[in-house]
Amino acid sequence: MRIHVADHPLIAHKLTVLRDKETDSPTFRRLADELVTLLAYEATRDVRVEQVAVSTPVADASGIKLASPRPLVVPILRAGLGMLDGMMRLLPTAEVGFLGMVRNEETLQASTYAERLPDDLSGRQCYVLDPMLATGGTLAAAIRFLVDRGADHITAICLLSAPEGCERLEKELDGLGIPVGVVTAGMDERLNDKGYIVPGLGDAGDRLYGVVD
Ligand code: URA
Repeated sequence: MRIHVADHPLIAHKLTVLRDKETDSPTFRRLADELVTLLAYEATRDVRVEQVAVSTPVADASGIKLASPRPLVVPILRAGLGMLDGMMRLLPTAEVGFLGMVRNEETLQASTYAERLPDDLSGRQCYVLDPMLATGGTLAAAIRFLVDRGADHITAICLLSAPEGCERLEKELDGLGIPVGVVTAGMDERLNDKGYIVPGLGDAGDRLYGVVD
């Protein structure tokens, strides 16, 4: 599995403001959106393309365009929705599928409660949006779901990650037989006993959209 921690001062600056508990929801949403666009640039480095001919006002040239089938962007509900606009800004012709996953806060097990995805993902490159790679349970389950439908190349974009989650992904997805990558703005120290990333930024869904009781 490829793990890329984006190393850029603008990314580090925006991440620091996101972490701040005094940052309000509107600012948090705007910064998350901007961060995803920066991460998307790195995450799409190996997006599939094909050669095309183009006529400039001066001469004929060769160029490239995104290959078919179009890439599929999959935000994991609820918090992944806060990353969708930032991703689509860079990849406006991608298709979007939705995957609703919930984590049981006691067992920390992830399960699917909703999905809106093509039945056949054969030959599709997928970009999964999940802000927090914490225990890795949700992301591992989401990736397995996409692979079972035929996806053959998956990159997860996460605002923050924990080493425990990365290790679990490596272990659980070992032998999957397709390329899987993670692009993240930061690799934090560890998880606490509630499965939160430390120092992290708290509950990403709550900070984006408010607390749900
Ligand atoms: N989910 C979050 O929103 N925050 C964490 O720190 C871990 C999981």
